[in-house]
Parts: sequence; C-alpha cells; structure tokens
Amino acid sequence: MTRPRAHAVTESIAAITALDAPAKAIAKQFRSLLPPGAVKDALSGTWLGHALHPLLTDVPIGTWTSATLLDLVGGRASRPAAQKLVGIGLAAAAPTALTGWTEWADSEPGNDHVRRIGMVHAISNVTAIALYGASFAARRRGAHTTGVLFGLAGAGAMGAGGFLGGDLSYTLGVGVNQTLFDEDPSDWTPVLDASMLVDDRPMQALAGEIPLMIVKRNGTIHALADRCSHRGGPLHEGELEGDCITCPWHGTRFRLEDGSVERGPAAYLQPVYEARVNDGRIEVRPTP
Ligand code: FES
Repeated sequence: MTRPRAHAVTESIAAITALDAPAKAIAKQFRSLLPPGAVKDALSGTWLGHALHPLLTDVPIGTWTSATLLDLVGGRASRPAAQKLVGIGLAAAAPTALTGWTEWADSEPGNDHVRRIGMVHAISNVTAIALYGASFAARRRGAHTTGVLFGLAGAGAMGAGGFLGGDLSYTLGVGVNQTLFDEDPSDWTPVLDASMLVDDRPMQALAGEIPLMIVKRNGTIHALADRCSHRGGPLHEGELEGDCITCPWHGTRFRLEDGSVERGPAAYLQPVYEARVNDGRIEVRPTP
C-alpha cells in the first residue's frame, strides 16, 4: 500500500535534530514563566475538563478562512467584512498561541517527534499571524490587493500549521487523556503483598497490564492509575501532599479519594480503583 505523502512531510520534520536545542530551551523557559497554578490551569483547560487549545484554534482558523473565501468570491461589497474577520482572528491569535505553547512545553519530557513537529507548528502559526497582521494593516490603509495577497500567504502558513497541529493531536496524542485506552481488569485482581506497603510511601503495581500507584494513607489503601492522565508521568514517583498525589513531571495534584484534579495542568480525572486486602494480598477492581 502506498504511504500518504503527508507522512513523508512529518517524518522529515521529525528528523530535524537541530530543532532540539532551541525547542528544549524555549519549553524550559515557558515552564519556568508559567509554574503550576491558576494561570496555567486556565490556559491548560483544567477548569473545563478539556484541553483549551483545540477550542481556541477554531476562532483564527474560522475567521481567516472565511476572510479568504470573501476575498475570493465575495466581491467588493464584502471587503469590510473580510477586514473585520482578519482583525477578529488576530485578536484571538495571542490567547490561542499561549494555550498552544503551554500544551507543547508540557510535552517534555517527551519524544523527539512531538518536540520538533511542535516547534515547526509554532513557527508556521507565528508566520501566519505576521502575514495576517500585514494583511490587516494593508486593508486598513486601502491597499486591498496587497491585503488579499498577504492574506493568501497567511492562509498557506495557517494551513501548514493546522496540519502539523492535527498531527500532534491525532497521531502523537498530545493533549489526549493518557489513560483513555487502559483496559481495566473486570473483577478483583491481586496486585501486591500487603506486607510490602509502607504508610505514606507510593508504590507501583500491575493490575494485568495497567500500572497502578498504590499508597496507604491514614489507614486507607488508595489505588490510582499510575500513568498521569496529562502526559503519562509516573505517579508512584510523585509526592504526597495532604490527601493528594503530585505528579513529578508537571505538578498536577490528584485527590487520592476520587482522582479529581485539585491543581492542573491535567484536564482529565485520574482513574481510581477500589482496593481491599484479601488473604494477605492487596486486590483492586475498577470503581463503578
Ligand atoms: S505528566 Fe504532566 S502533570 Fe503528570
């Protein structure tokens, strides 16, 4: 079977090792400017229970695409509307870019493909913003044809950026709930000798193929999926804080009781399991 040409494009980008050093430095800087807390949660979509970036991208993509269509088939009467649409897209570009940088910066530690494709995705989108900015300025001073040409160039850059953004989400799983495809055991499953569990020390155990984080806190045994729903960080290496476990990668705090997010950047609940001691073994089963 012939491979789609798009694969060759993304594979070529994913092979550009020269992107690693600047990408790592930018991602690190971004994370230090935006530590875990309310602002990061707002940008990550923690409050929404869904990554925010894909929602916001609809605004610049929708308005700029509409402006291009008006430029091409709308005639003279549609020029004011096209200019407004370009302006609305520009106004939405900054928050959209900010949420995208947040998503991408949290992909570290991660794989090379995400880092490199994310970097080119960002460069394409910044180019699109600059071109639509020039388009807007030209339209405002009455240079309509120049504005349209800048807009068409911007549409090309936006298309490339959008394609790579889709690849990041749909092929590489950035922003996807990392526990989504875990196959839970159907009934009580032994995972650990109870004697191995020490108070307040998280441990990793396997329930079938699913890695779990098991911890005993104030006499209660808690079991959560070990791979963080955000980017797959190992919760058993995290720290207990109050009634929460903090992911060691980007600092999401999940409540032990129900897996809810006390602080992001995760936007998705962490799966929790019922736990009991039976005949000296800790057993778990999915919480109904
Ligand atoms: S992997 Fe990012 S907070 Fe857990």
